[in-house]
Order: sequence, then structure tokens, then C-alpha cells
Amino acid sequence: MDLPKLTKLDVSGKRVLLRLDLDTSPDPNDLRIKASEETLNYLKEKGAEIIILAHRGRPDGKVDEGLSLAPFQPIFDKWRAKVEENLRFDAGEEKNDLEYAKKLASLGDVYVNEAFGSSHREHASIVGLPKLLPHAAGFHFSKEIENLRRVMENPERPVVIIISGIKKDKVNMIGPLSEIADKVLVGGRLPEFLGDSALESVRSQNGKVIIGNLVMDKEDITLNTIDRFIKEIKLAKTIVLAGVLGKYEDEGHRMGTEKVFSAVADSNTFKIVGGGDSLEAVRIYHLEDKFSWISVGGGAMLEFLSKKTLPGIEAMKNG
Ligand code: 3PG
Repeated sequence: MDLPKLTKLDVSGKRVLLRLDLDTSPDPNDLRIKASEETLNYLKEKGAEIIILAHRGRPDGKVDEGLSLAPFQPIFDKWRAKVEENLRFDAGEEKNDLEYAKKLASLGDVYVNEAFGSSHREHASIVGLPKLLPHAAGFHFSKEIENLRRVMENPERPVVIIISGIKKDKVNMIGPLSEIADKVLVGGRLPEFLGDSALESVRSQNGKVIIGNLVMDKEDITLNTIDRFIKEIKLAKTIVLAGVLGKYEDEGHRMGTEKVFSAVADSNTFKIVGGGDSLEAVRIYHLEDKFSWISVGGGAMLEFLSKKTLPGIEAMKNG
């Protein structure tokens, strides 16, 4: 896949619009922020003026001070980079509005996408900007593709994909991913979102899909489900872990996440983990060195695995 390379883009002394994944906490050790460091260092060395574009949460086109990106500014001061306010405060971002994209484009001379985790969204800062400015993929973005390809191209089998977390839209990925996986384990809040017809359709996937059961308050998976998932993890040769299994921030609801993440981390497999909350769990449990690849994408990683591309990739290739 030939993405435009950052080393081929003239960034010296230029105003660079750098799209990052900041849908996370303003902590310099956050793994999504760390993933952008190589690109930031390169741009600084080249004397670029860095303008950071990003979103946080789902404010639906309205200003929500709790989702401001202002707390991130001190983290990026060392690269002399300026953090623009949350793009999703303007409805034009999610609508991929051309006028909004042009307004963003006027802030810079070139565009760099280092937001793999947001590149499944057809939003102005992801698919609009590459049409308007010379552009390239960030260094981490390119590595995402190289590593995720290992799951798509002749993976060692069985391939087990764990889809979990709280974002309802991940439910739509269960069917497509059962095409490439030998087993799909569904946990977190997702079993709760599966209506009768969705349940019917996953049951028809030749027993490939295992839907976890939730404890009474729905904030974690049951002990039986933990055991069932770990049994599959032990048989796997390739594992994709996308999402935490429960409300891991609460002491009483972290058992599923702790046990499943540890089982994957200890397995002798090619193992990938991805997504905002998953990365935070990896950091809390000090599992950073245990994974073959840590993807900044949750939904984006799953969509890339099933479709082999993303809107943000197509925009950079065709823009
Ligand atoms: C993520 O955290 O997965 C990305 O930031 C995308 O966020 P979204 O699901 O709200 O578009």
C-alpha cells in the first residue's frame, strides 16, 4: 500500500497541519501521545511550524468545555506546537463540510495524518484536508499498516479477535471480522447492544462468534465468560484485542479486563491490542512490552482489518 511518505514531503520551514489522535487523557505518557513523538521530533528538526488538529469525545458540533483540548497544550510545548481547539466543536468536522475543510486548510501549508485511530471517519480533517493540501502519513501511521497486515495476510491460525468496550458501533464489525477470524469473542457492553436480529445473525456464523455474558449491573463479564474466553486465547496463534471487557476503572469491575488482558499478554502468539481504553489498560497493567504491536486505533483497527483500507488512507492515496 503506497501511502505518501513523510520523508518525501517538503516540510522545512512550512506550517504543518498535524492531525493527531487526542481522544484520550492529557497525559504525556499516554500511548496515543507517545505514538506521535517520532513524527513530532522529525517535524521539529526540519524547522516546521506545527499546528495540531484533533478531536476529543463526541460533542456533536457544540462547545463542551469538558472536552476542550486546552489541557493538552503544555504537553506539546516542547515541540513548539500549537494545539487547535477540539475540531468536533464545529459541526463542519463530522459533516466533512468543504467550507470547514478550507478554513482548516488556510491554517497550514501541508498536512500530515498521524491519527490512524480516527481515519475510519469521513470527517473534514481526515478526508477533506488531503484534497486541499500536499500531504503524507505520519511515521506511526505507516507502521500501523505494516503490522496490521500481518493479521490479514497469511496469519498463523487460529486467529482470535476480541471485540469489546462501550462503543455501540463496534457491533457492526462482528460479522465482517468473523470472515477473517476463527473465533470472535464479544464482551464489554457490546452483548447488551445486540438486539434479537443481530444475535440471530451472529449465531449463524458457524459457531465462530462467542457472545459473553454480563454480570447483573452489566459493568463486567461473568467468571464463566472469562474462563470461556481464556480457553480460546490459549488455543490461539494470532490475537487481536480491541476493547476493555468491563468498567476497568472501577475496582469492582476490572476482573474481566485484568484476566483477559493478562491471558493475551502471556500467550505465545502474534498479538495486537488497540483502542483508547485498551491502551490505558495496557499502561495501567504495565503490559507495554508484551504485545507484538500496540495500535492507536480501536474502531479504526477493526475496520482496517475487515476492509483492508480506511477513508483516511484512500483520501491520502487519491488526494
Ligand atoms: C477513537 O477513540 O476510537 C477515535 O478517536 C474515534 O472516535 P469516535 O469513535 O468518536 O469517532
